[in-house]
Amino acid sequence: MTDALSALTRSAGQGGGPPALPVHVGIIMDGNGRWAELRKKPRSSGHREGLRTAKTLVKAALDLGIKVLSLYAFSTENWKRTGEEVAFLMDLIGRHLKKEEKFYRENRIRVVHSGDPAGLPERVAGDLGDIRRLTAAYDGLTVNLAINYGGRDEIVRGVNRWLKGREGGESLTEEALSRCLDLPDLPEPDLIIRTGGESRLSNFLLWGSAYAELYFSDKLWPDWTRSDLEEALKFYAARDRKFGGLK
Ligand code: FPP
Repeated sequence: MTDALSALTRSAGQGGGPPALPVHVGIIMDGNGRWAELRKKPRSSGHREGLRTAKTLVKAALDLGIKVLSLYAFSTENWKRTGEEVAFLMDLIGRHLKKEEKFYRENRIRVVHSGDPAGLPERVAGDLGDIRRLTAAYDGLTVNLAINYGGRDEIVRGVNRWLKGREGGESLTEEALSRCLDLPDLPEPDLIIRTGGESRLSNFLLWGSAYAELYFSDKLWPDWTRSDLEEALKFYAARDRKFGGLK
């Protein structure tokens, strides 16, 4: 950790203000395709490199004391890509879940999934279920893999869950809907990072990010390093979070 950042994280919680270190960070890992195209390589090599970067950043997040890291690996809209790219991504994700089981266990990282498992290839859904069960007891860093995830889809599935459990004529409340979303036990994201030069949420964590701080970086995802995450954390530490209220 750089000296400047360690000073910020040391000051976390001192003085009664909100902690300087976010509890939950979400990352929209954008720019894999362009990274590959710039090198005259197939888009698939950008995704492979992007996965390597994801592992580096998981280690950095663990080290820095972040409690939850949500990674947007495949959106409900990504099915619109070519069959070849979709198949490659599904295979890459499936292999990752098998290959890195040891990495997650050795680092006591809990892996959870947000998104609709029903729409995933059976093997990927099975591998996700396996790694979730295997790591369920770990309480260090939680890595939330958003796969076949869309914020709108999560809200619609949540409302339908609520309707199924509805007993009388009660109205839906924010609290009741929050409890019906994919991972009701996770804290809402404090900081959402998007790489690759675009400034939009693209259907990521729509409900939970109502008061998240947003950090946009021009760097393409495969080029991201731990020091880029540290820059984003410095940006976060300088925010004045009022959640619509007054200081
Ligand atoms: C967006 O870049 C990236 C994706 C749609 C895939 C992200 C997936 C990974 C990094 C691998 C899986 C990760 C885990 C942790 C299992 P893009 O292809 O839209 O890039 P472009 O905008 O340059 O075309």
